Amino acid sequence: MAEQSETHEASLRLARRRSSVPRARALLRAKLGEWRAVQAPTDVGELLLSELVTNALRVAVPGDRMIGVRIVCRERGASLRLEVSDAGRGRPRVRWPGELETGGRGLLIVDALAFCWGVKERPAGIGKTIWAEVVTPAVVPVPTMVGHSVMS
Ligand SMILES: Nc1ncnc2c1ncn2[C@@H]1O[C@H](COP(=O)(O)OP(=O)(O)OP(=O)(O)O)[C@@H](O)[C@H]1O
Ligand SMILES: [Mg+2]
Repeated sequence: MAEQSETHEASLRLARRRSSVPRARALLRAKLGEWRAVQAPTDVGELLLSELVTNALRVAVPGDRMIGVRIVCRERGASLRLEVSDAGRGRPRVRWPGELETGGRGLLIVDALAFCWGVKERPAGIGKTIWAEVVTPAVVPVPTMVGHSVMS
């Protein structure tokens, strides 16, 4: 049985094709199951990964450089980090699309759902890694008031 504090990691390189988006989601779901990450917000994780991989697919890259995905799972999924790397130029920029614009809200979704997210340069090579973290707060029992004393 996995320890509560155990850290699990998985990495995958994906081709620049649309089917890589469902593939990344499937990998995440499969790994979280394999690691018995019962505290992981799997649906939110899939949504974040979808947005980041879709963005990575759209950016122009030299040659047919692949997309990197890394998943880091701690505390049975209560802490989940997703990383998506691409070799493209440019950086993610949160947009504020007009009311009638149908696109441009992907990073707004990431910003709303992730505990934190950001961009880091790749240690070697061109491109960058966009990362997002989701955390599931521990369930803390609410103290019950009895008379003037507090019982927990
Ligand atoms: N990996 C990336 N590399 C370079 N630029 C990026 C990357 N990801 C996002 N961006 C830039 O940030 C902008 C905002 O991304 P966002 O996901 O919010 O919107 P979108 O991808 O344009 O539209 P939508 O997500 O609704 O399909 C993109 O239009 C793009 O210019
Ligand atoms: Mg997008």
